Amino acid sequence: MNSSTQNQISEERAEYYGKLRGHSCAPLWEHLAQLVTPEPVITAIPHLWDYSKIREDLLHSASVITAEEAERRVLMLENPTLEGKARITESMYAGLQLIMPGEIARAHRHSPGALRFIVEGSGGYTSVNGEKTYMEPGDFIITPSMAWHDHGNDGDNPVVWMDGLDLPLVNHIGAMFMDHYPEEQFPDGQPHGDSYIRYGSNMRQVGATPDRSDSPIFSYPYAKSRETLEKLSKTTDWDPYHGLKLEYIDPTTGGAAMSTISTFLQLLPKDFKTEEYQTTENTTYSVVEGDGRLSVKVKNETKVIKWKKNDVFVIPCWYPHKFISNSDSTIFSFSDKVVQTKLGLFRERRGNN
Ligand SMILES: [Fe+2]
Repeated sequence: MNSSTQNQISEERAEYYGKLRGHSCAPLWEHLAQLVTPEPVITAIPHLWDYSKIREDLLHSASVITAEEAERRVLMLENPTLEGKARITESMYAGLQLIMPGEIARAHRHSPGALRFIVEGSGGYTSVNGEKTYMEPGDFIITPSMAWHDHGNDGDNPVVWMDGLDLPLVNHIGAMFMDHYPEEQFPDGQPHGDSYIRYGSNMRQVGATPDRSDSPIFSYPYAKSRETLEKLSKTTDWDPYHGLKLEYIDPTTGGAAMSTISTFLQLLPKDFKTEEYQTTENTTYSVVEGDGRLSVKVKNETKVIKWKKNDVFVIPCWYPHKFISNSDSTIFSFSDKVVQTKLGLFRERRGNN
């Protein structure tokens, strides 16, 4: 084919494509290779937020804006490649929220589901549909979709937690709803600890059926989860890819504690090195105890990320990685695994074969 014939085709195609645009159509053959790729092509990158540096910024926010003005005084953790998109990974939102002593973050509800993972401070509480739960570092709290919730701090020191929400997923679908409660706080309902008493002992009242798709236990205390990890570590083989990793579950179904977010707590003993692991999950980690390194392959180069207590880091979809712990470490994490599993999209690769 000579060049004048090629030019003729290009001009013909260009004219044709222009005509298609006018009819709100586009030629798939020009985009297919970018749309359907042999492996995931991910914008988000592995990244760490150093809590010792962010903490200063977060505490500074208390002098910049009140919790009342802000409604939620939160520093969003944005993936460096997703700036301005309120995303820590492609599918999840995360932020660090600060409540000063005596402050109240007013009651509202929304369709995105939320989790809280407590980073520091005592005396903070969350009320979910009127049931109050006090929160200690390492506790995991669920605020289900469309559940009324407000937060406060009855203690003497700042309270900080990590928020994790399925906000990008909900936004993508478009099913976004939010209401403000007319009062500052939702009226007191069931007494503190009621849901744990009802559903936390592997028993339930005959005829009692939870009416929502998230676990009726909305507070998972760290003291209990940590004790479980410690006891299991004496009798359970270490998983070469995860150490000892437990998933928070809904005791009424045995499934994930939240309908759209998978949540985990894992133990890596001192000097533990995991084997290379790759997954379609987009995972955000919060270090509760210990320190170590993450070795992750980014475009055929190995990036080493050092993590320590209270740091947050992310491993987005399909980045091969390994963990190395310097000391006994416990790490909380949340991901979109439960959504991917429901959709039949979850994949993992163990080892580097
Ligand atoms: Fe909220």
